[in-house]
Amino acid sequence: MSQGAEPTEFDLKILSYQDKGLIVPTPSLIKTQEQIDGIRRAGEINTGILDMLEHEISEGITTEDIDRLVAEYTAKHGATCAPYHYDLGDGTPPFPKHCCTSLNEVVAHGIPCEEEDLWDGDIINVDVTTIKDGYYADASRMYMIGKVKPKVRRLVECAKECLNIGLEVAKPWTHVGEIGKAIEKHARKNGFHVVRDLAGHGTGNDFHEEPEVNHYDAHEKGMLLVPGMVITIEPMLNMTTHEVFLDSEDPFKWVIISEDELPSAQWEHTILITETGNEILTH
Ligand code: MF3
Ligand code: CO
Ligand code: CO
Repeated sequence: MSQGAEPTEFDLKILSYQDKGLIVPTPSLIKTQEQIDGIRRAGEINTGILDMLEHEISEGITTEDIDRLVAEYTAKHGATCAPYHYDLGDGTPPFPKHCCTSLNEVVAHGIPCEEEDLWDGDIINVDVTTIKDGYYADASRMYMIGKVKPKVRRLVECAKECLNIGLEVAKPWTHVGEIGKAIEKHARKNGFHVVRDLAGHGTGNDFHEEPEVNHYDAHEKGMLLVPGMVITIEPMLNMTTHEVFLDSEDPFKWVIISEDELPSAQWEHTILITETGNEILTH
């Protein structure tokens, strides 16, 4: 709501939810048309990167090679990589590379490295966040190398189904908690476990904004979703447990591993909440 101006019907609708004690977005979380256009352009480059990797990733490539490809494509398109030197501000060392490459049992925040090459049967998540003219788009995909075991392939597929189910329920005038509820239900039905310690998030003007988007049922409504909000949905699925741990061998203190040390899978999109549903900005 702009200061001093008469509240619009839209403002009043949001206030009516607030009056009922529900969490509503602050004005800065509702993007202007100019911001949406900027985030959309960041999303187009981001999608170009993940598409390019579909052709480039195969047996023998190192995660350092993937990082280089991401960095080069990004620079060529006049953009920058948000992960590079990203600082949480909590004493964790800044992230050292341009993207996250999470191989097999690595759940998230895997760090590209020259000594890590991809083998037949591996699965890897590449998570890319692109900044273009100050606007952010964040997405990730799974890439499978050669002959992946059926159960692991199923994990990868089910994680994608979970993202799609999240997309179906992410509508205006519902609450962000609905997303996790629906995702967890689908994962459970398929015998998989949703990681709880990492969440989706608002994005667009900054890397990580409010609200937190849980992918499990946290038994709370969470923030109201309204047209103009931009969020990520990025479920992570494990085989036998939702628990994860921080890799003690990672000097940067970023790499998160599944407690069972079995493969883990994740897919991510950045979406705009619209009047009727949502629009994927990283398609
Ligand atoms: N892209 C991740 C996300 O989906 C965050 C990675 S932070 C980094 O939110 F520093 F590791 F890149
Ligand atoms: Co994200
Ligand atoms: Co991401």
